[in-house]
Amino acid sequence: MAELKLKGVTKVFKDVTAVDNLDLEIKNGEFFVLLGPTGAGKTTTLRLVAGLEKADSGEVVLGDDVINELSPAERDVAMVFQYYTLYPHMTVKENMAFPLKAKSRNLPDDEIEARVLKAARTLNIESKLNRKSTELSGGEMQRVGIGRAIVRNPKIFLMDEPLSNLDAKLRESMRSELARLHIDMGETFVYVTHDQVEAMTMADRIGVLNEGKILQIGTPDQIYNEPANTFVATFVGSPQINLLNAEVDGDEVNITSAGYRMKLTASQKKAIAEKGIKNLLYGVRPEEISIVKEQEDNCCSGTVKFKQSMGAEDILNLTVGTATLKAIVSPQLGIRDGDKVVLKVEVSRSHLFDRETGEAIR
Ligand SMILES: Nc1ncnc2c1ncn2[C@@H]1O[C@H](COP(=O)(O)OP(=O)(O)OP(=O)(O)O)[C@@H](O)[C@H]1O
Ligand SMILES: [Mg+2]
Repeated sequence: MAELKLKGVTKVFKDVTAVDNLDLEIKNGEFFVLLGPTGAGKTTTLRLVAGLEKADSGEVVLGDDVINELSPAERDVAMVFQYYTLYPHMTVKENMAFPLKAKSRNLPDDEIEARVLKAARTLNIESKLNRKSTELSGGEMQRVGIGRAIVRNPKIFLMDEPLSNLDAKLRESMRSELARLHIDMGETFVYVTHDQVEAMTMADRIGVLNEGKILQIGTPDQIYNEPANTFVATFVGSPQINLLNAEVDGDEVNITSAGYRMKLTASQKKAIAEKGIKNLLYGVRPEEISIVKEQEDNCCSGTVKFKQSMGAEDILNLTVGTATLKAIVSPQLGIRDGDKVVLKVEVSRSHLFDRETGEAIR
């Protein structure tokens, strides 16, 4: 178990800056998720920690040591990959024991046997130990991959989208198993994914990465409820946050296209004045819009263009003025396509962004 720090780490491939002056501090025992779209630099970041890539500049610090110059074997980190990398001709047991058989480890056979058994028990694959790895399901193979990491007692676990090749149902159950495993082991996990649900459900903290840069670090709650910019706001949440053009008008924000206004808080007013911001983006999540019986404050009228039934909830696609908004409402309301409705917007839970920079205004 160890904490991990990246200090100004940069990695350039020819014309692509895959990791751009990255600063990160991952705490001892933390489940840290690096979340970002494809090409964001997630895998490269993990590979830099594992020693599979060499940083062009900056420091990778594990525990008390700068590890930039250490070989992968010397780093004492374990990586689980997206694709199962099991040896097909070996049994599950042999696959799991493999990293322990290195001469340099000099481990006695009974110690190896004990570690493999313990990991297999933790992962519920005890009964599969003598099977060939080719005779396993995808979920079992990925468990063996994780088992191979566990037996090594590494300082830190690096996981690169380990569940992305599993079907939806298995992925969901493996998510909770991994979360439980993390709690049981108390080790430091750095977990990479492009799947926001995975990040939200498993992480102690999330770092949102795009184009090699960290855009925000926070708990799932902070990332969802206090997004630092429009990228984070739109990347997390499904259906995604509604974003509308808006203008400052004295003490208020005029959400012109939808035809309603909201009052600015004192601190928002101050930030807007200081930065001379004129053009805003107004953001409100679909679950913060509700259907009410009659007009009151912060209400506007709209038309239901079409409804998507999700079982537990309905997603309404609404036309409001010239804007299109999505709202999540209860199916009990019995709303139908074409209905004229009155919408109430939870303005206290709305977000404002600078349209030029995308930065949140708080
Ligand atoms: N060995 C390499 N040579 C050249 N370019 C590379 C190499 N590895 C990565 N890149 C580039 O660096 C950028 C970051 O890649 P990386 O694999 O880290 O992204 P990622 O966030 O893991 O994406 P994904 O979600 O698709 O796995 C991409 O633009 C990629 O094309
Ligand atoms: Mg990747």
